[in-house]
Amino acid sequence: MDAFTHAIEAFVSKNKSEDTDGYALAAVKLLAQNLEEAVSDGKDVDVRFNTVFASYLAGLAFTKAGVGYVHAIAHNLGAKYGTPHGIANAIVLPHVLSEFRFEMKTNLALLADAAKVSSEEQSEEQKAQAFIDYILGLQKKFDIPNTLDALKKEDIPDLAKAALKEAHWTYPVPVYMENEQCERLISQLLSK
Ligand SMILES: [Fe+2]
Repeated sequence: MDAFTHAIEAFVSKNKSEDTDGYALAAVKLLAQNLEEAVSDGKDVDVRFNTVFASYLAGLAFTKAGVGYVHAIAHNLGAKYGTPHGIANAIVLPHVLSEFRFEMKTNLALLADAAKVSSEEQSEEQKAQAFIDYILGLQKKFDIPNTLDALKKEDIPDLAKAALKEAHWTYPVPVYMENEQCERLISQLLSK
């Protein structure tokens, strides 16, 4: 899921290029073809190789194009609560994609096409939603929670501040958000 996040954040980045788009799309395609099988049956070496190779391609994409708000929030959840990087990203990813589904719809629609979770007759908005639904579906299939039990309401203002400081330092995020929006977004991760 971290590899997915790398590919997606690189593909929606303001620093994207033809080069990084190629890597990101190839990564998403390979992950969509192999990740579910790799998780359900770890014995298939070819399938596992494909996911590792996809992770490498996503790495080529994000080390040039950068990451974004998913990583910025996930890093700070890791720092505060010790949430592992991959799990934190997997929890945060669909929330960030939903928050910016209109602003990122063109790129999300292209990612849906790459993952083959869209159909030709769908509008850009529908394709973007199909991609978000696909990621939510994976989250469910892999038993990854949609919220973070460790998250405390009173920590949210500091977490938002730290995440925005990190993101706005160097991450080429497609849309800027202010404190209030970030706090609202992180609140969606509250378990109760
Ligand atoms: Fe990562």
